[in-house]
Amino acid sequence: PIDDLEQHFEHTIEKDQRIEPRDWVPEGYRKTMIRQIAQHAHSEIIGMQPEGNWITRAPSLRRKAILLAKVQDEAGHGLYLYSAAETLGADRGDLTEKLINGRQKYSSIFNYPTLSFADVGAIGWLVDGAAICNQVPLCRSSYGPYARAMIRICKEESFHQRQGYELLMTMMKGTQAQRDMVQDAVNRFWWPSLMMFGPPDAESANTAQSMAWKIKRHTNDELRQRFVDMTVPQAEALGVTLPDPELKWNPERGHYDFGQVDWDEMKQVVAGNGPCNAERIARRRQAHEDGAWVREAAAAHARKRAEASA
Ligand code: 3HC
Repeated sequence: PIDDLEQHFEHTIEKDQRIEPRDWVPEGYRKTMIRQIAQHAHSEIIGMQPEGNWITRAPSLRRKAILLAKVQDEAGHGLYLYSAAETLGADRGDLTEKLINGRQKYSSIFNYPTLSFADVGAIGWLVDGAAICNQVPLCRSSYGPYARAMIRICKEESFHQRQGYELLMTMMKGTQAQRDMVQDAVNRFWWPSLMMFGPPDAESANTAQSMAWKIKRHTNDELRQRFVDMTVPQAEALGVTLPDPELKWNPERGHYDFGQVDWDEMKQVVAGNGPCNAERIARRRQAHEDGAWVREAAAAHARKRAEASA
């Protein structure tokens, strides 16, 4: 009976245990899990574009090899997460359609251009650093397949973050022109990285329910603060200034105070009016169309195999 199933679900969540694909879940849980996992996967796949832009123009073979490995990792994270979404009954082709026709989102951060190779470092250090802050707690998310995907992904993200920081440190030890490139990249990526954590808790439509169901283990503002606290000392060690005059250690709070994120900019970018939204979606649509023959061939082959064994 439904109330036994409901009780089992509540009990599992309450005891910090994992919900697995075969378990009954409230429809709202399934919906919000598919929403979050699919958009996370979309972010990984779209995220390949800004960095991929520099693979053919990396300044050395070493940098090219590192960047190739990182972009390949992002593709793998996307596929891993689409598989997790499929355990909830989602269809990967349908999710791709929803991404391409704007019915599902991906992280706003990937709608900014990568103007110099220092951006590759800034993305590794700041964007993957923010991703780590956001994804480590998700390793304890209540939905089993998602939490387990996060454990694997977080290991690779820490390589992404370290290579970015090392790239920037190398450039900071270079010429003044290289130091200026690093500072310029940091100026352009700092605030958009803070937007990755979502709107303020007070304006977050999903946080309360996601916390109740232990999908999220911390709120948007808590993780944003954690990222700022972690990153300011790294910026000092790097020798760059973060573009926020209000950034200041607050001994009472035991955290850094920081300025106001430009929420209108975030709303605009999420709504599709960021610098690169059209280009990112057009590239994704093109890649999907270019790959249609592979999907058709695989389906034809599967049909033949099924007929042969019938
Ligand atoms: N970009 C685009 N959309 C965003 C956003 C952003 N930066 N921040 C919030 N949103 C959307 C939410 O998806 C939600 O819209 P929806 O209801 O249509 O999905 C709306 O804005 C309100 O936000 P909420 O805070 O209510 O939504 P959530 O509770 O889902 O919180 C989140 C947003 C913190 C991104 C959460 O979904 C999450 O933790 N997702 C998993 C992690 C993730 O997706 N990270 C994205 C980057 S992936 C990455 O960086 C890969 C790395 O390799 C570089």
